[in-house]
Amino acid sequence: MSTIISGESGSILLGPNFERYRLTEQPPFDLWIEDEEGYLGVKMSGFHGGSGGLERSLRCVFDRYDLFTPSGDKPQFLDLGSNIAVQVIWGAHHGWDSYGIEFSARAHQYGLHNIAKAVAAGFIDEQNAHVALGNFYPQTFARLERKRRREMVSSDEYLDRDKVPEIGYISHWQREINRFEKETTNENPYKKLGLDLGDVDLFYHYQVQPYELVMSFFTQFAKTGAYLLFSRSLSDEPNASDSVVCVEKCWTILGKHYVMDLWRKVE
Ligand SMILES: C[S@@+](CC[C@H](N)C(=O)[O-])C[C@H]1O[C@@H](n2cnc3c(N)ncnc32)[C@H](O)[C@@H]1O
Repeated sequence: MSTIISGESGSILLGPNFERYRLTEQPPFDLWIEDEEGYLGVKMSGFHGGSGGLERSLRCVFDRYDLFTPSGDKPQFLDLGSNIAVQVIWGAHHGWDSYGIEFSARAHQYGLHNIAKAVAAGFIDEQNAHVALGNFYPQTFARLERKRRREMVSSDEYLDRDKVPEIGYISHWQREINRFEKETTNENPYKKLGLDLGDVDLFYHYQVQPYELVMSFFTQFAKTGAYLLFSRSLSDEPNASDSVVCVEKCWTILGKHYVMDLWRKVE
């Protein structure tokens, strides 16, 4: 595995753009969702990662057009679990063909609403932002996921209390996710989006799924040269594979644990 640790030359996430995005520009519309019930244990919000660190990392990668080999006329971004479509909107704002798949019907509806607000505010071009309701794991994969996640949730690897500060949310997440998985329609979200997984240049997942499964999905379906930006919230590790390399790790919790991992498919 070749790894560039944060701060070294050649760094993507901690390059000059990371500074540029320090004072994260707020879009000219409100991304907060007034919803008492909230989701995944927290009030729905359009702002992630303390000082917006997760968005900053993502926007640094969006800025590096030179890294990507788009199949069409612009690079394609796919948010695996797009929730209220905040990152889809940032991708579209940076000129990407930006897609999201989400299996919570409520979050998906808010996502559509936010995209409409962003278009109305002139922040994005309508043609650039697309979201669909459904499971981002293709059907055969979804079966594997259910089985594997049940095993993992009870393991120490997944729930290391020393490494995951916000541990209290995790069991709540898992209950919610089990529910969405059952409720989700069998319709293929990729078909609805007209999206071919083999054309996606950048995948993103803000972790609620086991790392190993997202990596194995990426390894199996992404084209050579595609990137996966993985924002960690659990303490599990992916399996090593010859077909992906870790390009960069950055953003630490308490100076100990990397949060953002950038992977590239190499064969
Ligand atoms: C922590 S939120 C991240 C939201 C968004 N990516 C962001 O960064 O703003 C994770 C989202 O993934 C969704 N999700 C998890 N597994 C999924 C799956 N297999 N298919 C579709 N959505 C999924 C959850 O419902 C949740 O809305």
